[in-house]
Amino acid sequence: MKRLTVPRIRQQKGKEPLVMLTAYTVRMAQLMDPHCDMLLVGDSLGQVIYGLPHTVAVTMEMMAAHGAAVVRGSYHAAVIVDMPFGSYEASPELALATSVRFFKEAGVMAVKLEGAHIQTVEKLVKSGIPVMGHLGLTPQSLHQLGGYKVQGRTDGDVIVEAAKALEAAGAFAIVLELVPAELAARITAELTIPTIGIGAGVNCDAQVLVWTDLMGITKKAPKLAKAYRNLRAEMLAATNEFADDVRSGNFPTEAQTFN
Ligand code: KIV
Repeated sequence: MKRLTVPRIRQQKGKEPLVMLTAYTVRMAQLMDPHCDMLLVGDSLGQVIYGLPHTVAVTMEMMAAHGAAVVRGSYHAAVIVDMPFGSYEASPELALATSVRFFKEAGVMAVKLEGAHIQTVEKLVKSGIPVMGHLGLTPQSLHQLGGYKVQGRTDGDVIVEAAKALEAAGAFAIVLELVPAELAARITAELTIPTIGIGAGVNCDAQVLVWTDLMGITKKAPKLAKAYRNLRAEMLAATNEFADDVRSGNFPTEAQTFN
């Protein structure tokens, strides 16, 4: 199977919806890769992997290491890495240096950045770096937004204009997070590049979820997520059984013993 390319992702606009999941480790990448078009090494790994309260403290080192692991664990999906907070906002040159590092060290196929950094997107695209935009709820601006709230209820036009500017700058796709479904549908209809929804209704060109929400591992998942399994219960039960077996002398058995 050949890896999905950025031009092919663009060509999917208006066709069968694309599938994207977050992945942070090689094992999860291996499991998800055959079923996904895109794997996002999201900076949500700050909470999911590192137990941070939000994405603001995520570093380039974390993103580069996990990006490389996901690339090693996949051969079908396009791998996109999030630019962490502080690694791109200051200037297009800084953003280019960060992206080049992710391309060289991790081998990812594209970067994602939050907000309407139009000149930065232009610079990256001109330098051969595919860029995915991210509008609506942009978690790196948590402190400015005052919480994880639905965006664009009263200022939807601002998001529409930002999406069009990102498209004109060369972005190949845009994540729309936590925006009213009507607004996401309007943006999807007005753009020629795919929109990727998360809490943005069914009319986007693609959907993305954080994998721990999908698997039912997250203790209090947000409303935008759907748990397709209850792996939290399964993992708790397995750990509990192992602990019982060890304490009662029932593990290891003959099968795990070398004579
Ligand atoms: O970091 C992340 O997981 C993301 C997705 C929620 C789109 O940006």
